[in-house]
Amino acid sequence: MNKDQLCENLEKLNEKYQSMGQDASSYLDGLLLSNYTNYWDYINVDTLLTLQKTKTDFPDELIFVMYHQITELYFKLCLHEIEQVAGNGKIVTNSGEDRGWNEELNPDYFIARMERMVRYFEALTKSFEIMVQGMEKEQFQRFRMALLPASGFQSAQYRLIEFSSTPITNLVQKDKREALQNASLEEQYEKVYWKQGATELETGKKTLTLEQFERKYQPEFISRIKRFENCNLWRKYQELQKADQENEKLIEVLRNFDLQVNVFWPLVHYKSAVRYLHSKESDIEATGGTNWQKYLPPRFQKRIFFPDLWSEEEKEEWGKGWVMEQIVG
Ligand code: HEM
Repeated sequence: MNKDQLCENLEKLNEKYQSMGQDASSYLDGLLLSNYTNYWDYINVDTLLTLQKTKTDFPDELIFVMYHQITELYFKLCLHEIEQVAGNGKIVTNSGEDRGWNEELNPDYFIARMERMVRYFEALTKSFEIMVQGMEKEQFQRFRMALLPASGFQSAQYRLIEFSSTPITNLVQKDKREALQNASLEEQYEKVYWKQGATELETGKKTLTLEQFERKYQPEFISRIKRFENCNLWRKYQELQKADQENEKLIEVLRNFDLQVNVFWPLVHYKSAVRYLHSKESDIEATGGTNWQKYLPPRFQKRIFFPDLWSEEEKEEWGKGWVMEQIVG
């Protein structure tokens, strides 16, 4: 860097700090004293590597724990993208300054964020073989007994992705969806599909997995549903100008996201349940206590984030071979 560039940068720094009533030269003194950034501190590697704790001595349990953590990190990235779409691309910098705020959501920005989420879910679906093939069945069936009644069912981020992608109506159990369309958000939340999945139909008794999950997260879920009532992904799409709503690339990426979250990931996840819990004599009970054979396959729940973007036939065939053949070829 030559002297002129240096002076120019100092000038800019001075302006930046002055605008906040700060003395730039004190910050420069600090810079002279501070250490160089290094990889391990920046990425928090040491802390990250303390988080892989197992409950048994079976070596394959570590794969199970770490793969769940990897999935949760991707879920966090999805939620990060959704927040940006919900806020019309608002980025708040560390100094509290707003950057990139738009009155309206830019369709290209929307598409780019949706594409990112599709990539995250594609990565998850593809890597799920790490679960399906990657652990010894015998080890899995033994260490899982030490994890009762925990289940991936209790992944709060998975539920948050759902609540922020679509109006709550679309997450109500299939046979009550129409009747509850105009009910309050709370009433609809009571009938969300996964509660039914973890409730004994005859007695109405909730599984312990569900009870504990609700005790911990219910207030957060309700406030999320309220906060995203008017800024979930579907509402953001509906808010766009008519011409933008007809943007083929946008429609395609929204449909793709719907398939990734509600068909492809559930299918590959179901495959792991079949591999580890299915047996010729009698299927093994899931740790979360659902009737997993009926609960997990996407064709039974018919969760669809953006039903208006699918034809009646596509919805009818949701989660069955037809949809995938048509879309993926
Ligand atoms: C060997 C691997 C796995 C098996 C056998 C398995 C099995 C199951 C079963 C049987 C359920 C139904 C709830 C229950 O009764 O427990 C379930 C739900 C769930 N699991 Fe897994 N799972 C595996 C891996 C994972 C991983 C790696 C994740 C990542 C976070 C995950 C996330 C979920 C989620 C989000 C649900 C709720 C799905 C829904 O409500 O439709 N699972 N799992």
